[in-house]
Amino acid sequence: MDNQIEEVKKKADIVELIGSYITLKKVGRNYKANCPFHQEKTASFIVSPERQIWHCFGSCGEGGDAIKFMMKWENIPFGEALRELADRVGVKLKRVVYQEDRERIRERLFTLNGWAAHYFQYILWETRFGKHCHNYLVNERQLTPGIIKKFGLGYAPQSWESLTRFLTKKGFSREEAYAAGLVAKNDRQRYYDRFRGRLVFPLKDSRGQIVGFSGRWLGTGTGPKYINTPETPIYHKRETLFGIDLAKEAIKKNNAVLIVEGEFDMIVPYQYGFENVVAIKGAAVTQEQLLFLKRYAEKINLALDTDQAGIEAMKRAIQIAEPTGMEIGVVQLDFAKDPDEAVRKDKDKFRRAFNHPVSFYDFLIDTARKQYPENTAYHKKKISDAIVPYLNHIRNPVIQSHYVRKLAEALEVSTDSLEALMRQRSRSASLSLSEVFPAKAKTRDDRKLSLDKYLLSLVFQSDNPYVLVDTVFAAVTVDDFSLPAHRKIVQAFIDWRHRHPEKFDAPAFCRQLPPELEPVINELFLFATLSESRDEDNEILKDAYEIKRLSLKEQIVHASRETDHPADDRLIADLNSQLRKVEKSLSAL
Ligand code: UTP
Ligand code: MN
Repeated sequence: MDNQIEEVKKKADIVELIGSYITLKKVGRNYKANCPFHQEKTASFIVSPERQIWHCFGSCGEGGDAIKFMMKWENIPFGEALRELADRVGVKLKRVVYQEDRERIRERLFTLNGWAAHYFQYILWETRFGKHCHNYLVNERQLTPGIIKKFGLGYAPQSWESLTRFLTKKGFSREEAYAAGLVAKNDRQRYYDRFRGRLVFPLKDSRGQIVGFSGRWLGTGTGPKYINTPETPIYHKRETLFGIDLAKEAIKKNNAVLIVEGEFDMIVPYQYGFENVVAIKGAAVTQEQLLFLKRYAEKINLALDTDQAGIEAMKRAIQIAEPTGMEIGVVQLDFAKDPDEAVRKDKDKFRRAFNHPVSFYDFLIDTARKQYPENTAYHKKKISDAIVPYLNHIRNPVIQSHYVRKLAEALEVSTDSLEALMRQRSRSASLSLSEVFPAKAKTRDDRKLSLDKYLLSLVFQSDNPYVLVDTVFAAVTVDDFSLPAHRKIVQAFIDWRHRHPEKFDAPAFCRQLPPELEPVINELFLFATLSESRDEDNEILKDAYEIKRLSLKEQIVHASRETDHPADDRLIADLNSQLRKVEKSLSAL
């Protein structure tokens, strides 16, 4: 198996792999991007084609190989990531690898859900029990058979345990069906098929795997209209975006996505050719959902109910989205109850609204003005109180000033007065964005360590490290590096050069290092790419002297601590004279 893992990794070029998900910029021998795993403004995510690794030098600090990237990107365990990658590069894995029990469990659940979906579809299409559901879909919801199939819709019959029996025949225990959320327990501890009597929608992740189900009640009477799979090891409501598996390509292509509330609000526009739509299943947009969508598109448009809950949801969405630089708009479909009804009622009108979202802030101003329509000082105060907290959090000053002026004009007040209010409010910050996005973690590396790392990184990343090294080692010696691992690598490098004086073979050099040095050398192959102003000999020399200076200072402090030894006075004097020399060289540069 290890061989196969190596084979997959070898075939999956890391630059191509990561480049298929995010935009990589070539910098020297490496590639650079904004880290996809946390929020950042300056690119600190580096990929090394030579080492076939990636690393984020920003606050998330993540890194690893191609498989690790897949794990992080898809949020899946090792075995699944390996399989995904193997599929991609056309390697047929001989054996399934589970690194943990968790994977085995997840795998079982996916298979079980697959069978359940199969069962629900069978009931819908092939049996008389599914007849009325089929009629409902075709007549009342006006879905085409093709769309019903594409979304894998099905029907769960009105029965206590017919699904359970079916799953048992397929080799799954009732406990497993319960763990998958397909079976529920009533007050009297009796198990029953959770979705019975409902139209069933499979809920899929972006790769099209079924993570859970939702079911719409078709009968009369009370009870919830929709029910969903409870949280399971594979179903997390906060992350689910209904339709993402089918919509993601269109989202990428349009660089925009429309977020709607319900399953039908996604399916029906999709049937009419509006493909970059996903449903959040309810009114609450989560941070997980928005950050996921940000991978595919910069423009996020909302078509949520414009009731109070919907408006609150939109406000919440903007709080999450604004610091990420996403552009939030609102698609206003006020000529119908929801997007499903809107697109069926008037497709052209739907298209116009779909193509011309209103900016969130315009929407906010409109909404507040409708709520407080009078031209009185009191209503103006109400409106500005409602909107100023949002204006305060617009990051881009140009956009901010645009909307401040707009609001001032709408209220017929001066921009000065609004700005005064904004200053007042920002002190009592009413939106806590720091809760949404915690401040960057402080780096532990001190200046000396970063300099060491940077210098060595410049050496290893240069076209010919042998050339640079003469310059560098005229100024510093092995002992000037603070980290034992760095000293070992420098020593190994010097030894290597003795044995292979012609040309530096980076992969061969890295292979013969002891394994515990691997993360360190990997970092050295990446680190210097962070800085744009590289390749200047002057800078390298400056860096080397600075390291020497700090190293001498450290040594002086160290030697002065043990003043009993007479030899130390001479040592300190010697170190001091060296220090003066280095400082002179530094100022001469
Ligand atoms: P709505 O109540 O607005 O229903 O719920 P809808 O989407 O228009 O439903 P149809 O058109 O009558 O079938 C919006 C979404 O909120 C979730 C569902 O995903 C639903 O589609 N929801 C709603 C629930 O999860 N549970 C509920 O009880 C109600
Ligand atoms: Mn509806």
